[in-house]
Amino acid sequence: MGHGAPVTTWSDRIGRLAHGGDYNPEQWPEEVWTEDVALMREAGVTMVTLGVFSWALLEPERGRYDFGWLDRVVDLVAGAGIAVDLATATASPPPWLTTAHPEVLPVTADGTRLWPGSRQAYCPSSPVFREHAAGLAAAMAHRYGEHPALAMWHVSNELGCHNARCYCDVSATAFRTWLQERYGDLDELNRAWGTAFWSQRYSAWEQVLPPRVAPAFPNPTQQLDFRRFSSDAVLACYTTERDVLRAITPDVPITTNLMVTDHVDGMDYWRWAPELDLVANDHYPVAASTEKHVELALRADTTRGLAGGKPWLLMEHSPSAVNWQPRNVALQPGELLRHSLGHVARGSDGAMFFQWRASRAGAEKFHAGMVPHAGTDTKTFRDVVALGAALGALGEVRGSTVHADVALVYDWQAWWASGLDSHPSVDVDYQEQVGQLHAALWRAGVTVDVVAPGAPVDGYRLVVVPTLYLVTDEAAAVLARYAEGGGTLVVTYFSGIVDEHDHIRLGGYPGAFREVLGVRTEEFFPLRAGESTRLDDGSTATVWTELVHLDGAEAVRRHEDGPVAGHPAVTRREVGTGRAWYLATRLADEALQGLVGEVLAEAGVSPVVEQQPGLEAVRRRAEDGTGYLFLINHAGEDRRVEVTGRVLVGGGGEVDGAVDVPAGAVVVVREPASG
Ligand code: GAL
Repeated sequence: MGHGAPVTTWSDRIGRLAHGGDYNPEQWPEEVWTEDVALMREAGVTMVTLGVFSWALLEPERGRYDFGWLDRVVDLVAGAGIAVDLATATASPPPWLTTAHPEVLPVTADGTRLWPGSRQAYCPSSPVFREHAAGLAAAMAHRYGEHPALAMWHVSNELGCHNARCYCDVSATAFRTWLQERYGDLDELNRAWGTAFWSQRYSAWEQVLPPRVAPAFPNPTQQLDFRRFSSDAVLACYTTERDVLRAITPDVPITTNLMVTDHVDGMDYWRWAPELDLVANDHYPVAASTEKHVELALRADTTRGLAGGKPWLLMEHSPSAVNWQPRNVALQPGELLRHSLGHVARGSDGAMFFQWRASRAGAEKFHAGMVPHAGTDTKTFRDVVALGAALGALGEVRGSTVHADVALVYDWQAWWASGLDSHPSVDVDYQEQVGQLHAALWRAGVTVDVVAPGAPVDGYRLVVVPTLYLVTDEAAAVLARYAEGGGTLVVTYFSGIVDEHDHIRLGGYPGAFREVLGVRTEEFFPLRAGESTRLDDGSTATVWTELVHLDGAEAVRRHEDGPVAGHPAVTRREVGTGRAWYLATRLADEALQGLVGEVLAEAGVSPVVEQQPGLEAVRRRAEDGTGYLFLINHAGEDRRVEVTGRVLVGGGGEVDGAVDVPAGAVVVVREPASG
């Protein structure tokens, strides 16, 4: 974690699992605040996030602060024993700032300067913006740094949510500086960007620009580097404020809420995580999906990976519908508890929401709140109160950790690069492949850690590598050594294709993994939309085929028809004391499930409990060996699970042998250390 990080952990400062949400009392008359705090008590709220979008109120003009209302709110919640996650309030610049300095407004790739009037209207590279934000962060730290209710600093909010990439002239200058640090001189940049192509050679630095809208495809390495630069620029907004806070309040943990999801891709969080004292995430599933809980598990596992396996914090999720999807489907009864404890099961030391009280005005007035427009005699408020009780009963889970036998290699840079234009098929979708593999493991009932490319993986029985299009030599070598040393490695199609500059690895695909997998692909044969091939075991595959030659591997499945009929679709190689599998096509879900079952058996990985459809089982373990078995029943039928221990949630008393988990319910059992 961050250099010089505070000694007391954030969760010790709260002393309980975190339960609460974004609290925006500035949207309400003061009489409502008293009722809010009474209701928070009823709901067992332990922490609220204050000040996220309050810049214009807290600093009504440059350098003049109005802290009066926030002082009263902080004292009020503190009086109720509620901790405060205090925002630096810099998420959205106030109108006076963008009026005085219109140059802080962000510019899109086609040169449009965005207007204020919404939120987050700033260029992340703007020195003017950063200076003003640092000023407010310092004022907040001086004002509230010693307040006993302060549990942590919340820098800005979802940094890069709407403004991750700015193409203005200030950003262009910052991009050139970043490139000079990366490449040293223009010759290196020309080599890395492959500028011999299409007459792109640069002869002076001022010719180098962000990848603005051009007549045809912009240079792919330029696009990739601009994404890397932009992620670093947004991160610098965080570290600028972090350093200001750290200097004034060295003992207060500092975080910001990340967006680990498939719909925000601006930031490479592997580079961000070491800068945070605690990893916090916001999670909003796609409401229309019928398998929200499976996607939730992937994001929670990824967040735990960012936290290096330590407890993390779910900073926001929705108590019911959101406002920003095409059809904002409300949560069913019981879903709020399943979602919240789904995150806790996977390592979150709490479950926070956006937001406490549903707004009356503004763009988010149809977003659910813990206190809905209809008041407290509602499903949502009752569920919030029930969650408070459950989290209260789970206090002892705080600090315990999750252990997995399977690792999934995940990478923001590979995601960016694989999604660039002019590729073999638009149907190759990084998130879809990651999701398909993770979902198959979820259904098999095993727990998965999500790791960065190049991270040590020796402790795992199985490592899966979905569509890792871009990979460095070093990261590929870690995976090859892992297989040779006795591990089981599974790599899926369109992996290992390019190096870090997005240059093709020559000699046959899948480049970086060719040797360990024992295959050599001479050409890709992507399928047409809706087309599928039949494999020799009767299963089907879609999206992708390739002409694979065996070079040490054996064919486990072959295509029976399609463009590469007779050629391998799935291969396996014994390598060193381990084995390496290659999925050279996109197996249909059922076929993938079968194969994952085979591979898990071969690798000696068993499910957390005996697998039953729709049952999610995850175990957290305390340092003394005590287990906390979370059983979440997403199915429409009751399930029975063999376990011995004490029921903490979903009943009570001791169980000796088996516990019933009714349809839609959550049961958490404390298991004795020996068990
Ligand atoms: C998050 C954001 C919140 C709120 C919420 C609505 O992205 O941090 O401020 O807008 O979404 O779902």
